[in-house]
Order: sequence, then C-alpha cells, then structure tokens
Amino acid sequence: MALLELKNVSAGYGKNIILKDFCIDIEEGKLVSLLGSSGCGKTTTLRTMAGFIDVVKGQFLFDGQDYTRTPIHKRGFGYVFQSYALFPHLSVFDNVAFGLKRRHVNRTEIKERVTEMLTRVGLSGFEDRLPADMSGGQRQRVALARALVLKPRVLLMDEPLSNLDARLRVEMRVEIRRLQQEMGITAVYVTHDQEECFSISDQVAIMNNGRIEQMDTPMHIFNYPVNEFTARFVGFENFVPVTLENGRYVSASGTVFETDKTAPRLKAACRPDDLQLLPGHEGGIMRLRGEIVVATFLGKQMQYLVHTREGDFLVNTAAEALYAPHDPVTVCFPREKTIFTLDETPVTAP
Ligand SMILES: Nc1ncnc2c1ncn2[C@@H]1O[C@H](COP(=O)(O)OP(=O)(O)O)[C@@H](O)[C@H]1O
Ligand SMILES: [Mg+2]
Repeated sequence: MALLELKNVSAGYGKNIILKDFCIDIEEGKLVSLLGSSGCGKTTTLRTMAGFIDVVKGQFLFDGQDYTRTPIHKRGFGYVFQSYALFPHLSVFDNVAFGLKRRHVNRTEIKERVTEMLTRVGLSGFEDRLPADMSGGQRQRVALARALVLKPRVLLMDEPLSNLDARLRVEMRVEIRRLQQEMGITAVYVTHDQEECFSISDQVAIMNNGRIEQMDTPMHIFNYPVNEFTARFVGFENFVPVTLENGRYVSASGTVFETDKTAPRLKAACRPDDLQLLPGHEGGIMRLRGEIVVATFLGKQMQYLVHTREGDFLVNTAAEALYAPHDPVTVCFPREKTIFTLDETPVTAP
C-alpha cells in the first residue's frame, strides 16, 4: 500500500488551478522525484503534500488516513527549501535544535539528537558557527539536519541543490541518497535536472503542465519513454512520423520502419549517440538518405547535423572527422535503439 497518495487532487492559487485530477502513489521508504521544466507544477505538488496549499477537490491519504484537511504542523513532514531558509542569527546547533525545542523535548535529548544528526551530515565540530560563515553546501547540510532531526514521516525537498555549483551538487546528491537510505525515510524530491533526478531516485514522475506524463523507475523511463514528451526529456531526438500502409510503417519519403507497435500513426525516434552514419546513399529498411550540413567537434565525439527529406537529424559519432559539409550520407536507425511513440500531432488537412 502507498504511504502517500494524492487521489484526483485539484489544487492551485485561488482561481488559478495548477494541478487538475492529479494522482500519485508513493511507497514507504522510497525516494520519488518529480522532474519537469520550470512552471510545470512541481513546487505546487510538494506544497500541497506539505499542507501549504489547500486541496480544492480530491483526497490526500497518508498511511491510509485522510489527511486532506490536516494542518501543516500535524502532518509531521520535513521540508527542505532551495534557499535553505536557515535562521541567520542562530548557530548551527540552535538551527538544528529549533524544532525540538518547540516540541519541548528535554535538553539532554536535544543535545544527543542534534549531535548525532550533525555527525550524520558531516558537520560535527560546526555547532557554534553561524550560517553566514559557512559554504552553500554546508548550509544545505544544516537544512537537511534540521529537517531530519525531527524524524519526519516524509521528507519533502524542493530543488535542494540548485544553489550549489556543479561538483558540489554531485557530492550532495550522493549524500542525500545515503542519508535517505540509511534512515529509511520516504522522500519526495523536486528537480529540473534529469541526471540528478535519475541518479538518486527509486522512481521518477515526469511532469508537464500540472500532470504526470510517466512515472516509473529511472531505467525504465530512460529505455521506454511512453510518449514524445518523455522521450525528449530523456534525450531522444530525431523523430520520424510514420504511418501504417498495407501492413507496413512508412515515412513521408517512403522509407519502411519496423516495429511491433500497432497504432495507425507513430513516430520513430533515436538518440544522437545511437544513430549511425554510412558514407554515400544506401537504401534499405530504417535508412534515410541525407547530406551533411554541419560537423561539430564535441571533444569526445563528432556531431553531425544531417539534412534529409524527413527533416534534420543530429548524429554523434566517434571523434574522427569522417564527413564534411555536403557529403552524401545514409542515416541508419538501429532497430534495437529505436523507439516508437504515438504520433499525437493533429492531422492537418492537405
Ligand atoms: N503564489 C502563486 N500564485 C499564483 N500562481 C503561482 C504561484 N506560484 C506558482 N504559480 C504558478 O503555478 C504554476 C506552477 O508553478 P510551480 O509549481 O512553482 O512550478 P515548478 O515548481 O514546477 O517550477 C506556474 O504557472 C506558476 O506561475
Ligand atoms: Mg519550483
């Protein structure tokens, strides 16, 4: 059974409803990420779970109980903000102890729990520092310790690493994953960074326009995106619309594509790393004739922009300059690296 469940929830800001009929199930002990571009409703979802935003319609269940109208402080969830939101005038110790003091936990226990938590996040010895005298990464560790010391039943994190530089982000995401697993905490993690999200999550929900497009394990989403939106999000490009004609899928220029799928209109797609180039013009199944437009040296690879009758394609190859602009080439879609998504673009009248 899910620990956390939003059932057909509508929520937003006054008349501006952002989540419509929103559903998600989160299992106990898992780290689930909400991934999507800016404005798609990730923060709104998290704030609805926390209780900062009222549910207009639908239900929020926690551990099988109706929490739809449960006030924030009675939910017992931890929240970590992008901006850390530490108390600037309080020492590290007092920042972490804050919630415990408010709960009238006795002094000995506060000392014990804060000390243990600071050790866990690697900040033992920093008890007397003020947030202003710490680096971004250290401050985020304080924010994590402050949330975790209360033993929250769920930890909600809203882009907790976005203010850190690239190297520190990688270090901290491993740290967050380690803490979450060690403590067996159920966590919801919001980010717009695909790599970050995939690297730390048990499950990923890809969001678009207040809805979940696909929710699954990172590996499954990476290999089997269900639609074009998700596919683009995980690096597929080079989409070719194909239609069913006499039992075969054919592109606009007449190239045959093979798939087990059976919708009338599909789009074949392949990542730039997986497309292959052959010199000259060769016919054949899942092969398109084209011409090199631009050759770009990427360091580890060469990237070619290839013009074909089906549009322009990006192909990454080994870092040898094999082709020059205007060279005739054949773009090959390897069967096992090509996905087929539903073609949802409206049909325009000819
Ligand atoms: N306080 C607010 N009042 C009105 N609209 C808001 C408010 N906060 C966010 N929105 C709108 O809600 C939508 C989703 O925002 P948000 O959940 O913050 O997206 P994300 O976190 O994915 O970037 C956006 O269109 C945004 O403009
Ligand atoms: Mg946000």
